[in-house]
Amino acid sequence: MARNDAEMADTGEPGGAGPQDLGPGEAAAEIARLRTEIGRHNRLYYQEARSEISDSAYDELFRRLLAFEAAHPSLAVPDSPTQRVGADPLESLPNIEHAVPMLSLDSAQDIDTVRRFDERLRKALGDVEIRYVLEPKLDGASLELVYVDGVLDRAVTRGNGRVGEGVTENVRTIRSVPLRLRDDRLAPPSFLSVRGEAIMYLSDFETLNQRRIEAGEQPYQNPRNATSGALRQLDSRITASRPLTVLAYDIMEVRGASFDTDSDGLAALKAWGLLTPERIEAVDSVDEIAEYHRRFDADRDTLDYEIDGVVVKLDALAPRAGLGSTSHHPRWAIAFKFEPRKEITTIDRIFVSVGRTGVLTPVALLRPVEVGGVTVSRASLHNREELERKDVREGDRVRIQRAGDVIPQVVERVDEAGRERGPPFKMPAACPSCGTPPVEKGPFTVCPNHFACSAQLKGRITHFGARSALDIEGLGAETAALLVDQGLVAELADLFDVAEDDLVPLEGFAEVSARNLVAGIRKRRVVELARFLVGLGIPEVGVTVARDLAAHFRGIDTLRNAVPEELEEVHGVGPTMSAAIRGFLDEPRVAEALDRLLDKGFEFAVPEEVPADDENPWTGKTVVLTGSLEAFTRSELKKILQGLGARVTGSVSARTDCLVAGANPGSKLVRARELGVEVVDEARLRELLHGDPAETPGATTP
Ligand code: IVH
Repeated sequence: MARNDAEMADTGEPGGAGPQDLGPGEAAAEIARLRTEIGRHNRLYYQEARSEISDSAYDELFRRLLAFEAAHPSLAVPDSPTQRVGADPLESLPNIEHAVPMLSLDSAQDIDTVRRFDERLRKALGDVEIRYVLEPKLDGASLELVYVDGVLDRAVTRGNGRVGEGVTENVRTIRSVPLRLRDDRLAPPSFLSVRGEAIMYLSDFETLNQRRIEAGEQPYQNPRNATSGALRQLDSRITASRPLTVLAYDIMEVRGASFDTDSDGLAALKAWGLLTPERIEAVDSVDEIAEYHRRFDADRDTLDYEIDGVVVKLDALAPRAGLGSTSHHPRWAIAFKFEPRKEITTIDRIFVSVGRTGVLTPVALLRPVEVGGVTVSRASLHNREELERKDVREGDRVRIQRAGDVIPQVVERVDEAGRERGPPFKMPAACPSCGTPPVEKGPFTVCPNHFACSAQLKGRITHFGARSALDIEGLGAETAALLVDQGLVAELADLFDVAEDDLVPLEGFAEVSARNLVAGIRKRRVVELARFLVGLGIPEVGVTVARDLAAHFRGIDTLRNAVPEELEEVHGVGPTMSAAIRGFLDEPRVAEALDRLLDKGFEFAVPEEVPADDENPWTGKTVVLTGSLEAFTRSELKKILQGLGARVTGSVSARTDCLVAGANPGSKLVRARELGVEVVDEARLRELLHGDPAETPGATTP
């Protein structure tokens, strides 16, 4: 499909007069002509895979347009073909809210699950004929494109589903994305939000990696990583050099057009010049879905793009609205996944790695094998019990798969008749990092030397200094690593002995920064007890529990001496949590390290308890915040409510008294409604904060 000089005659007519020779009216006409002409060639080339002119004739048209636009800046428009070359780099990608939340898809691994999905729909919709649209499930990066009056207005990555990153400049460089919707077959709508997948064709991916290897750069692991990397560049000129394609598959919102079925919507997307996935079919039975899935699975290795299943969607749009969605996925669609790809290889060695929290994880080092396009050379064996259950040993042949097609897993051992096996693998008797004898905790094996084991220490220091804990400025992961690697900190308490003179010679430090860090550390010896507890990284104890523990025990010693029953008097602490807290504090090495830490002279502050009173409706209430508020940021409001004695937690449960919902609330609101939790909007919130004693949030909650 290349526009090739050897095969093509130069039939492009760049035109004669230069930009300076023409008056403004004539220049405008010439610019319009060039844009239309180039747009037509782009479409032929990128969407219909053919071309009418040679590369050099095309380039000449393009250069001419650039020259005219440069001479007449007032005639610049965002949908000009020249806007595809990339713009100046951005400082950061802006957060942009989606027109409609981008949900994910429920998934099925087997046909029975699809059958149940079909039965559910039939039951919900009554006695109607059901048609399904079937599509390949593309394994790329999903994306929202928004067209306003036919012109590409923005492109946003999925992000958290509600808000994503604005990648408009980058997407402008993708040739298969029309900057302006075609209007010659169907009038474009006034507003269109469409969802699609950015992908890299495998052949393009190979070429890109080849180029990178030749340039001495690291090749990409797989097309999906290469795609999301390219999409999220700050410099769109880099994106422009990456071979991306966008296939559109779902109209999220449209104004100024309407459709009865998804099939009609897809036809419209095509008419407007967007690319859609190939081999889309409409069927009306589960057997046909199975057949489609089987065919695609069989062809999977011959396709020029990665797919990980097929998508089954109800074709009729009106019933979709009736079925609605859960907080995560629509009820009218399902992804019918393929079996993960599996390969067989040998375990060369098993070693044990120590994680940040002290968990010892056995890891299999594998003879490298390619699984679905990615070379796999190690796989976690998770924990002692898993290892015993699978009974894999060094030298064994094993079947490997990538779970969710990402994380490599050892599925099972493959028996080989007559081969002598090595001895069973045993977890080590000493932590490979610090030599402490590990302890067994359920299926896990844990190094209990939490504050001094060097594998844990860097993470512990970072956590100790984190914003929600002691909030020590300048003590990030990098500095923590430096302090440990330089031998300045061998256990957490040593942090308070670090001196300016120790730091100054280190890379990245000068006198001022050394002085600031030392002062920053020492000054945090006066700290809220709750923050200190957060900083210790006690298992199961997050910010909320730490606050409750601090408010209840009011001192570190009372907490350290509390028996489980006393711990369980604290709101939200049950037997599992009290056991985890006691287990941690009773660990001799932890207890000793904590003694040494406390010797550094801490002064703990505990905020005055807010007495329960009728004037203050928030005391003792469990509140969740969601959405954006006008008058406060969420963290400001959190502080205010906590000051009034409320507990502010992260997720809505049956114990939640009240949900404060700002604009664009999302799934928490859905959950609150499901559970009958009281929902307070911003206006009501302000009334309550200004005190209306008769009204108590959560008073009506069952
Ligand atoms: S339909 C409301 N069709 O797969 C969901 N999704 O969790 C409507 N995906 O990231 C999506 N190919 O973006 C649909 N042909 C296709 C798809 C597709 C890939 C993505 C989707 C999401 C993931 C599923």
